[in-house]
Amino acid sequence: MTWLGQRIERRGRVSSTNDEAGLLARAGAPHGTVVVADEQTAGRGRYGRVWHSPPDDGLYLSVVLRPGLSPERAPPITLAGGLGVADAVNNLGVTASLKWPNDVMAGGRKLAGVLTEMNTRGQELEHVILGIGINANASDLPPEIASLATSLRLELGREVDRDALLAELLPAVEGWLDAFFAGGVTAIADAWSERAQLRGGRVRADAEDGSVTGEPVGLDDEGALVVEDDDGRRHRVVSGDVAVI
Ligand code: BTN
Repeated sequence: MTWLGQRIERRGRVSSTNDEAGLLARAGAPHGTVVVADEQTAGRGRYGRVWHSPPDDGLYLSVVLRPGLSPERAPPITLAGGLGVADAVNNLGVTASLKWPNDVMAGGRKLAGVLTEMNTRGQELEHVILGIGINANASDLPPEIASLATSLRLELGREVDRDALLAELLPAVEGWLDAFFAGGVTAIADAWSERAQLRGGRVRADAEDGSVTGEPVGLDDEGALVVEDDDGRRHRVVSGDVAVI
């Protein structure tokens, strides 16, 4: 069954599609409702970072989710969203890789990001907003991100049709969300680790028990990144940025 994108709300300029989707969710919009905009004036990423969202350059969308999960089980939705993005851009001919927890990379540069925001009431999860931004047709990236970011157009050497990209994206994201909702992190961990090219890499991150440098070896069943240090000890990374070294 197709549930993601049964209802698609199109907008011109918005502050953030996550805000628009949040408003729709609070007004009762069903699971799978999508908001897609041409431009965001206050697009945001993790930790309130700015997500550069000029008109018509990127694909900016958010999905209303009403998963039957407790709030502490919801964060891996980000991982499932990233898998969907990676599959969709792969289908367009760009080899994408994943970087924990929410980055989609191409050629070592950031191509897309996922921002998951939760709304809770007491211990209950009311809804989750899954926001996705893909650098689609940008050719002039702002100087502050030019060395760190890329776009589909820069990777492919041609413009992409954002509606065709959306049509690739929605079923891919739906498939990984279904897998996660049905089987938890276990159901997506192998695919995620493969696309993140974890084994053999080296990262530095803030683990729960302090700063760690070592090899990322996989995801645990809560979606934490497990990093093995040089003494073979394993550490869980549950927040912050992971630096590839
Ligand atoms: C990140 O890399 O930290 C996440 C970036 C997420 C950007 C998307 S664009 C659509 C949606 N609306 C937002 O304001 N953010 C997300």
